[in-house]
Amino acid sequence: MSRTLWTNPDRPIADLDELRTRARAVLAQNDKGTMVTAAPNLYPHQWSWDAAFVATGLSTVGVPRALAELDHLLAAQWDSGMIPHIVFADEVQLRGAGLRGAGYFPGVDRWRTERASPAGVKSSGICQPPVHATLVRRIVERATSRGGEDGRLAEDFARRTLPQWIRWHEWMRRARASDRSGLVTIYHGWESGMDNSPRFDGPYSRVHPGDLEPFVRTDTRIVEDASQRPSDEEYARYLWLVQQMADVRFDDARLPGAVDFQVKDVFMSAAFAAANEDLAVLAERFGHSDEVTRLREWSAEFREGVDAAVDPATGLARDRDLLTGEWISLPTIAGFAPLLSTADPALRAAQLVLIEGPEWAGDPRLAFPLPPSTSTTSPLLRPREYWRGPVWPVMTWYIAEAMRRHGDGGRYARWREASIAQLMEGHFGEYYEPFTGEPLGSYHQSWTAAVALEWLDGS
Ligand code: SER
Repeated sequence: MSRTLWTNPDRPIADLDELRTRARAVLAQNDKGTMVTAAPNLYPHQWSWDAAFVATGLSTVGVPRALAELDHLLAAQWDSGMIPHIVFADEVQLRGAGLRGAGYFPGVDRWRTERASPAGVKSSGICQPPVHATLVRRIVERATSRGGEDGRLAEDFARRTLPQWIRWHEWMRRARASDRSGLVTIYHGWESGMDNSPRFDGPYSRVHPGDLEPFVRTDTRIVEDASQRPSDEEYARYLWLVQQMADVRFDDARLPGAVDFQVKDVFMSAAFAAANEDLAVLAERFGHSDEVTRLREWSAEFREGVDAAVDPATGLARDRDLLTGEWISLPTIAGFAPLLSTADPALRAAQLVLIEGPEWAGDPRLAFPLPPSTSTTSPLLRPREYWRGPVWPVMTWYIAEAMRRHGDGGRYARWREASIAQLMEGHFGEYYEPFTGEPLGSYHQSWTAAVALEWLDGS
């Protein structure tokens, strides 16, 4: 089948050494000293799950800087234990037509979190997927196996920060999953990290913005092709939910009575299952063995919750809309959540067949054999629009790494080869058009550069 691949007219990358050099340069350019911003201009602050991926990429270059990135995030942890999804940098002025020095929107004022955040910290009031412990384990094991000063620093970091990571997991279990369903509740699509995925269309269709404070978006002035971003209608709903949560001061106990969006997020739940096991391993090794049993119980609870969410008709895991009680059975990348967590060999095998099959990474029309964010055969697919279709390199790596950890080095190697081929165009795109390989959204996205370094040096 003939296909036209997108090519970079300026400076494609020549070889793997250049990929490494340019990925490192992206992280260095986005490094503000205290934080590596998620991307220049579009995301000029620290995002929670971005920071975890960025730290693991940074650790291939230097362990102290990687640990500092995580320390910066942890300094924003709320008293409740929640780690907020954005830690704001000081005044940031965006560049772009008509922006006139405006800042990222929605900024800290819109969140009204000044009383809830630790003193001196500016943060949002919601969370993001708890991938941190998984990546901390990776960084610490890599550094300690090499020994020397890096090993010592990583070990000190693990001992010192373990209580904070455990509090984060306690919060997630208590505030978002005390029903013992083994599934995490989210109150905003932003919490999933997959903002406008079709998986949330049903729940968002029931969110009706009331008396919404007026707003002006800045993202669509930075990404000039606005069709690569969520729509204005979607943004009004996003802002309405922020307003509803801010009105109850992000009080965990009041959110269920206050917010028009409440979804059991299966992908986040699988990330949490995996992260609890990783935290148990760290706790066992670094002086918190009294926590191990509890963490393993949580790992099992969420592993089972995710397994039970699989739709027998499609083989994909489902989210659930808590406000209607309905399962959400749609062909998005989140349906492969069990690949992160399951201990059931038959389920794993069936999911692997699916993800490499003709509706996903095995579609022969794809530029690279990598899973898109929505199935290429679904009428819901929008190949250029954020989480509705593009391939996200960070997702490719996160899922491949989970496969490798489950002993599937062969598949990891194949995905690595395809993902590196995708990245060689040289923009370190936030996401990619699946059929042409065109980089979309933000360029020089930190977590894309970080996963390039992981593919190259993250043995
Ligand atoms: N992902 C959101 C954005 O696009 C915020 O978390 O800005």
